[in-house]
Amino acid sequence: MSTELNGVRDVWEHLGATDPYWAVLTENEFRGGEARTEFFQSGRTEVAGLLEVLGHDEWPADTVAVDFGCGVGRITFALAEHFDNVVGVDVAASMLDEARANNPFPDRVRFVHNDASTLPFPDDSVDLVVTVITLQHIPPSLTIRYLLEMIRITKPGGRLLFQLPSHMPRPEPLPTSACRASIAVLDAPRSLEPNESAYVEVSVRNDGDSAWPVGRLLNLGNHWYRDGEPVLWDDGRTAVAGPVEPGQASPTQLRIAAPATPGEYELELDLVQESVAWWANLGSPTVRVPVTVRAAAPVAPARPVSEVGAADAAGEPEEAAEAPAKAGSMQMHGVHKDLVVALFDQLGCRVLNAIPDNRAGADWVSYLYAVEVGEYQLRLR
Ligand SMILES: C[S@@+](CC[C@H](N)C(=O)[O-])C[C@H]1O[C@@H](n2cnc3c(N)ncnc32)[C@H](O)[C@@H]1O
Repeated sequence: MSTELNGVRDVWEHLGATDPYWAVLTENEFRGGEARTEFFQSGRTEVAGLLEVLGHDEWPADTVAVDFGCGVGRITFALAEHFDNVVGVDVAASMLDEARANNPFPDRVRFVHNDASTLPFPDDSVDLVVTVITLQHIPPSLTIRYLLEMIRITKPGGRLLFQLPSHMPRPEPLPTSACRASIAVLDAPRSLEPNESAYVEVSVRNDGDSAWPVGRLLNLGNHWYRDGEPVLWDDGRTAVAGPVEPGQASPTQLRIAAPATPGEYELELDLVQESVAWWANLGSPTVRVPVTVRAAAPVAPARPVSEVGAADAAGEPEEAAEAPAKAGSMQMHGVHKDLVVALFDQLGCRVLNAIPDNRAGADWVSYLYAVEVGEYQLRLR
C-alpha cells in the first residue's frame, strides 16, 4: 500500500474508532453518536437530491449501486431505499463495524473493507457509483486512480455521481490591523495518551479594528511544543464562524490529537488565515496550555489461566500494548475541475453535469459531477 494511502487509512481508522458519527458530519450535535435519527435522515435528504441531479429514472431492477467511502452507512442505507443491491466500501474497518451494526437491510446491503487504491469489483459490474464528502479527504493522485477504477467497474451507460473540490481560491488577506485576537481557553485536557484525540473549548474575541468576514479562510489551529521548541506544527484546524465584529467573541471547538511520544508538552492555539499567515507572525497573542502526554496504559496479553500471576511474581514487565493507530486530522484536497472534465472526456465518458456544491465548505470551489460511463474503458492493472 502506498504511504499516502496508509496515512489516509490510519487517520480514518482512528476517527472511526473514537467518534465515527462526528467524523462523518463534523457538527457538534453528532458528537458521541448523539442525534442518530437526524444523522441518518440527513442521508435520505441528501440521496433524494443526488438522484434528482442524476435525472435517470430507468434503473434496471437488479441495479447495483456502490457507495464509495461509506463511513457508517449514512448514504448507503438511503440508497437502499431506491436500489435493491447496495455495497458500501470504506478504507476504515472501524467505520464499517459501526455501519454493519446499524444495517437495516442485511440481505441486500453489504459492506466491504478496501484499503487498496483499486476497487474490489470486476470490470463492468455495477450500475452506479456514488461518493460524497470522501474524495475531498483523499490526496489528488489517489483520487484520480479511484476515478479510473470507478470507470472500470461501471457498466457502459452506467453513472458516476461524485462530489469533489476543485480548488481553494486564495483569500483576500485581512488587513493586519484586523488580525488581532484574544483566545480564551474554556476547557482543555490536562493529560492525554499518545495520539489520543480530545476537544478544546475556546472563545475567540476579535481585538482588531475591523470585522472578520466569512469566506476568508480564517481558522483556529494548534501547534505542539516541547522544551520550548515546536515539535508538531499542523494538528487540528477549525473554522472561526464569521462574521465576527470587533469586540465580539465567537465560541469555537478544536479537535486535537496528542503527539505520539509521552512527555510534557505545551499546546499552542493561534488563528491562521490560510494561505496568508499565522497571526502570531502578525503580532497577535497566542495562548499555551500545558498538557502531559502519559504512557498508554499497558494491556495484559491474553495468557492461559495457569500462567496468570507467574510473570508478575517473577518481576517480568507486562508486555506493552500495541501502539494505537496514528492519529491525525482529516485533510482536505481537490482536483481541478478542468482536469476532471478532461480526464473523463479522454476516456470516452460524458460529463452530464458539474454543479457547484457546498459540501467542502465555504473555503473551496467544489462540484457535484454526474458522469455517464462510455464504451471505451481504460483497464488499470
Ligand atoms: C466524511 S466520511 C463520509 C462518509 C459518507 N460518504 C457520508 O457522507 O456519510 C469519509 C469516509 O471516507 C472514507 N475514506 C477515506 N479515504 C478512503 C479511501 N481511500 N477508500 C475508501 N474510503 C475512504 C473514510 O473512512 C470515511 O468513512
